[in-house]
Amino acid sequence: MSAPEKVKREVLLLRKQIGRHNELYYTLDNPQIPDADYDELVSRLSNLEREYDLVLGDSPTQRVGASPSSQFSEVKHEVPMLSLDKVFDGAGLRSFDSRVTKRLANNFALDYSCEPKVDGIAVSLLFEGGYLVRGSTRGDGERGEDITQNIKNLRGIPHKLVSVPTRSRLEVRGEVFLTKSGFESLNQTAEKEGTKIFVNPRNTASGAMRQLDPKLSGKVPLQMFCYGIGICEGLNLPNRLSEVFNELDTFGLPVNKERQVEQGIDGCLNYCNSLLTMRESLDYEIDGAVIKVDSLVGQKHIGQNARTPRWAMAFKFPAEEKTTRVLGVEFQVGRTGTITPVARLEPVFVGGVTVSNTTLHNMDEVARLGLRVGNTVVVRRAGDVIPKIVKVLNGRGTRGGSAIVLPSDCPVCGSPIEKDGAVLFRCSAGMVCSAQQKETIKHFASRSAMDIEGLGSKLVEQLVDGELIENVSDVYNLNVDQIAGLERMGRKSAENLIAAINKSKSTTLPRFLFALGIREVGDATAAALVGYFGDLDRILKASVEQLEKVEDVGPIVAFRIFSFFSNEDNLSLVKKLRHSGITWEEQASSLSVKPLAGQNFVLTGTMERLTRNEAKARLIELGAKVAGSVSKNTDCVVYGSGAGSKLLKARSLDIKVIDEEELFNLFGDLDV
Ligand code: IVH
Repeated sequence: MSAPEKVKREVLLLRKQIGRHNELYYTLDNPQIPDADYDELVSRLSNLEREYDLVLGDSPTQRVGASPSSQFSEVKHEVPMLSLDKVFDGAGLRSFDSRVTKRLANNFALDYSCEPKVDGIAVSLLFEGGYLVRGSTRGDGERGEDITQNIKNLRGIPHKLVSVPTRSRLEVRGEVFLTKSGFESLNQTAEKEGTKIFVNPRNTASGAMRQLDPKLSGKVPLQMFCYGIGICEGLNLPNRLSEVFNELDTFGLPVNKERQVEQGIDGCLNYCNSLLTMRESLDYEIDGAVIKVDSLVGQKHIGQNARTPRWAMAFKFPAEEKTTRVLGVEFQVGRTGTITPVARLEPVFVGGVTVSNTTLHNMDEVARLGLRVGNTVVVRRAGDVIPKIVKVLNGRGTRGGSAIVLPSDCPVCGSPIEKDGAVLFRCSAGMVCSAQQKETIKHFASRSAMDIEGLGSKLVEQLVDGELIENVSDVYNLNVDQIAGLERMGRKSAENLIAAINKSKSTTLPRFLFALGIREVGDATAAALVGYFGDLDRILKASVEQLEKVEDVGPIVAFRIFSFFSNEDNLSLVKKLRHSGITWEEQASSLSVKPLAGQNFVLTGTMERLTRNEAKARLIELGAKVAGSVSKNTDCVVYGSGAGSKLLKARSLDIKVIDEEELFNLFGDLDV
């Protein structure tokens, strides 16, 4: 059936959205939507693709995960590492069973191997003659990273298998994870030692596995459960998966004791339900159950799709939700004065982290939830997404509580709060408000702006509260004695800070412009402005119409820039900053030819030495255009670690690809 235009449009949109979320999840380690919402997008897309026969090789439904990071050496999987299809309810599982039963032309209830779906990192272990010779990540399913040294640090993995033939090759696959208790004790130590708190067990496990220094990865008490076999040569394994697990157990490999063989799909559904009830009591995180045809001959007969076996199915549990109480609501003031309500919660462990406060975004959200202080609420946390209150529990005496009222005055400086647009409220005081003052200075000193190492959040608060600085230009008048006198600051750190402040004086114009904190002017816009106008004076004097000529600058942004530089205080601040010695090299404007003019770049993966936005800003300065996706018009793709689909696409289209080092060489050659 040929698909109607409307369906085709939806399919294209879904592919784009999923692509973006894949990048956020796999490459940037920064998912923005709950796993459950992501799964819904993928399942809608795969249903449409199936129904209208729109499956394409490069659709996100046909891909497995991220490509390997470039720092480890690459391992090509002799047998590809597949992923799993998923269902979210009993009906989905039943239709899986009907498909399987049909393919096997079976008349009676099949045996299924049922296992917890552990939320960790997929790995492959290769044993030759019984000896562990290689450990690798899944990567994109075809090629992964060699993490042998890190794997050898896992206490539960034998370096030598028991009673395995000397000429055999056996590849075991499984999930590496961190227990909930291991995660908590790591964080207790981190808290005691004042080091960084880990976000959740999965991220911690992933970070430890991809840690280049095996000594560091060894500090995280990781475990593993084996769930399948890849290569198997010179060794006779049983012909049922459940028996293979028993055999792996006798070899000395870790297998999950919650696994179970169930007859027919009703048995599987019972298994899923009872696993869900024990979810909390397990010492590791699971996000569902995996149901697999137990007969290996059956598995072979049923076969696989491009990236998933047809004989296995993940039954996904809903995103984890917990109830807790709202103890109070505080109103925070952001850099530009935005007032954000933040709920203080009775601490609750949900989705692998302890949550004690959560943003309510704005007063419309408070009204939508019907939230009052003292209410019992449901908090959901899925994947790595920030926890959120999804609903207020009504009835059972939980209603009551006191109303959440937006204060009429700023909670920090007491100036009147004004409405800004449909849902936002702002403190009207501008830089007179110490919260805005502090946030502006933090932004000014941040890495993508003036990059003043050591001038972090705490120190800025101390400096402002101690009345040592009031605005960003005061930073350049600080001296060692003033800083050394602050709590927890020695002379040495004070000297280092002054050195960092002095170092920041030699910068680039886009950084300086971005550091000023003009509303809506991010680092890419700052670079585009400089690219267009060339020097600061022209930007200061530009009219709204002229500003709008810059790529990506619309009327609102143009107006913000124009108003910022129409303000006398801002102009005198810029003057003071320049007088304190801040310099940059003047650049040619777009009127003169730039070295990368007309070239289309795409950035993907994580860079080591600079953020992607910084790289983007520099490329724009050089005249290049930086796009978000690879097309046949792309001239060059720059990839960092963990780059995935974009890199693959670039290679398939024969587009030039360069890594971070080559990008630096290019910057060097072009003298920036
Ligand atoms: S079987 C051929 N079994 O889930 C099928 N996977 O979403 C390969 N996972 O990549 C996977 N527990 O990392 C299987 N008991 C289990 C699992 C499991 C966790 C992970 C695995 C896989 C992912 C798919």
